[in-house]
Amino acid sequence: FTDGPLAGRRVLITAGPTREPVDPVRFVGNRSSGRMGYAVAAAAAAAGARVCLVSGPVALPSPPGVERVAVETALEMHAAVMERVAQAEVFISTAAVADYRVAEPALEKIKKRADILELRLVRNPDILAEVAARPDAPFTVGFAAETGDLERHARAKLEAKGLDMIAANDVSAGRGFDAEENALEVLWPGGGTSLGRQPKTALARALVALVARRMEAAGRN
Ligand code: PMT
Repeated sequence: FTDGPLAGRRVLITAGPTREPVDPVRFVGNRSSGRMGYAVAAAAAAAGARVCLVSGPVALPSPPGVERVAVETALEMHAAVMERVAQAEVFISTAAVADYRVAEPALEKIKKRADILELRLVRNPDILAEVAARPDAPFTVGFAAETGDLERHARAKLEAKGLDMIAANDVSAGRGFDAEENALEVLWPGGGTSLGRQPKTALARALVALVARRMEAAGRN
């Protein structure tokens, strides 16, 4: 842990989907496999960082040398991040966190009765925005999953949430989610660069190198 561009840095990463329970056996979820986040965690560890990975339910082994905290819902992910963020120097939010949860999950399995069943959803906290707004915020990197006008939407998220960096990916037509490869449009205040289509492992290494360079440029040593 003594070598590399993030040597000794404490990096907190979220990955995977969240599952929002409907009843004891059903949930609302999404297609995130965790591959992107796990690749970022492995790349940060290889760059010398001490990595904590807060992960939703995925079918991937923990990257070597990474501490994994398993969560299921957005509220659990929120609590796990808030417990650890004061110790982190970098926060990278790759998770596909559900924006909404079921207002009142049923305590018993819902029976098939009416032709139409309505679910009421309520907003989940925005973990990334809350981390970025802290007075002692770590260097904060968001992701943006977009189906069009990548750069404009991502720059709006960068500015609205006051992030240090955002990595935008096109998730239309089977891209991004649950794929082996990805491409990222990385933006920061006043600049940006494109990381072309490649395996998520290689892309994660390029992103981590960029985070280290931007931290240095921003005087976050
Ligand atoms: O897991 P894979 O199959 O490898 O797929 C990777 C990925 C497509 C999931 C990943 O590359 C990605 O884009 N992750 C972000 C997905 C997302 O939720 O994007 P968003 O544009 O809805 O959210 C913007 C940012 O806010 C993200 O950093 C997200 O982690 C964060 N967020 C969102 C909602 C919320 N309640 N809390 C958050 O922290």
